[in-house]
Amino acid sequence: MRRHWLSLFGRQSKPPPIAELMNLALTQPGLIYLAAGFTDPDTLPIEEVRFIVDDVLSDENCVKSALQYGSTKGLPKLRELTAERLQRVDLGLPPGVADADRVVITHGSQQLLYLLIEALCDPGDVVLVEDPTYFVFLGLLEGRGVKTHGVKLTPDGVDLDHFDYVLRRLVSSGEIKRLKLFYIVTYAHNPTGIVWSFVKKAAVLERLLRIEKLAGHPVFLVEDAAYRDLLFENRHENSALKISDSKARVIYVGTYTKPFATGIRVGFGLLPPQLIDPVLNIKANHDFGTSQFIQYVVCRALESGLYERHLGVLHEHYRAKALVMKDAIEKWFPSYIDVWHPTGGLYYWIRLPRHQCTGPRSKLFRTALRQGVLYVPGCYCYARDPWRKVPNHEMRLSFGSASASEIQKGVKRLGEVIKSISSYHTRRQT
Ligand SMILES: Cc1ncc(COP(=O)(O)O)c(C=O)c1O
Repeated sequence: MRRHWLSLFGRQSKPPPIAELMNLALTQPGLIYLAAGFTDPDTLPIEEVRFIVDDVLSDENCVKSALQYGSTKGLPKLRELTAERLQRVDLGLPPGVADADRVVITHGSQQLLYLLIEALCDPGDVVLVEDPTYFVFLGLLEGRGVKTHGVKLTPDGVDLDHFDYVLRRLVSSGEIKRLKLFYIVTYAHNPTGIVWSFVKKAAVLERLLRIEKLAGHPVFLVEDAAYRDLLFENRHENSALKISDSKARVIYVGTYTKPFATGIRVGFGLLPPQLIDPVLNIKANHDFGTSQFIQYVVCRALESGLYERHLGVLHEHYRAKALVMKDAIEKWFPSYIDVWHPTGGLYYWIRLPRHQCTGPRSKLFRTALRQGVLYVPGCYCYARDPWRKVPNHEMRLSFGSASASEIQKGVKRLGEVIKSISSYHTRRQT
């Protein structure tokens, strides 16, 4: 058989759906972009970063280290500050959990997600995700040939009855032997904005531990807390780290990008001890360490208190923009839609009646685009799970990068499109 010139992974990796949406934005000037998970350019900490960079460059003690290669695991000071901060936010973490030795610094949390999948999953292995979930993660799984099954999401975490059903099916189909992890986004979830309850996290971990015997190997719970620092109120519900985890199965993933500056690509993980070396060995092959310079910037932001002060500014700003979007939705969208209201993060999740399709080829999407508004079709956020049909009647709207007036204009146009398509359907049915 002739071999393909591209590797299996080269062939399997597809451009993320967001790339398609970005291209649309570029080809249509003036488009109101309610799609991207970008943060607001007006909230970028420009002065703060200028001050920090000057400080780092003029400090003889650190400038030579900042402009050098560092260690694969990350700057020790940043690992320490990260561990201390986690301990502070999660008051009462058991000793040894938020330990600097367990912290690994990566180029954004996206790199850590990638490293985890490389370290844990072979093609054909199974990963559970929420229905719906962070679509870039789905692309990563698909690119690696990993199978996915979705577990229905409710406003406080997954539906436990459905989770039990999925586990039973995994057992009866034999796929349980390939189950490696369950990936959940626990704070101001992307795309729905929900916050997981602590009780549900504990229940999920307890079930995963129970089925390990049948799996025959460890099954991990990956808690992606990318939006934890973007909760509007400091209502940091307990992380899964706080669950008694004697077998060390919780992998906590965090980031400094969304809450500070997305261009400063610094993420981190608090890893179970047995995973640290495998992840670092792969990271060493990728880049042998996150840029020292940007780690120093984040370190100084944390040490000086600039980071925490900036969070206060962001919370006010995004809460106000979320309200603008809420008011516009109430004013312009039909009353029959189901809106999931966020308590942080950047997104609203909108559910239309099942017959009103929102996918990229739907009349609604194309008309909205012609009217100059772009949203993320909900179908992008569902795994390709052979056990159910992908829902096609939802959309994610972001209030991150659009200005207040763009949000008002964009939601108005979208509301008019939804109403016009709905009356078109009604006319056809009568
Ligand atoms: C849920 C979630 N996790 C992780 C990431 C990756 O973020 P970063 O690599 O900037 O830390 C994102 C980015 O949008 C996200 O939405």
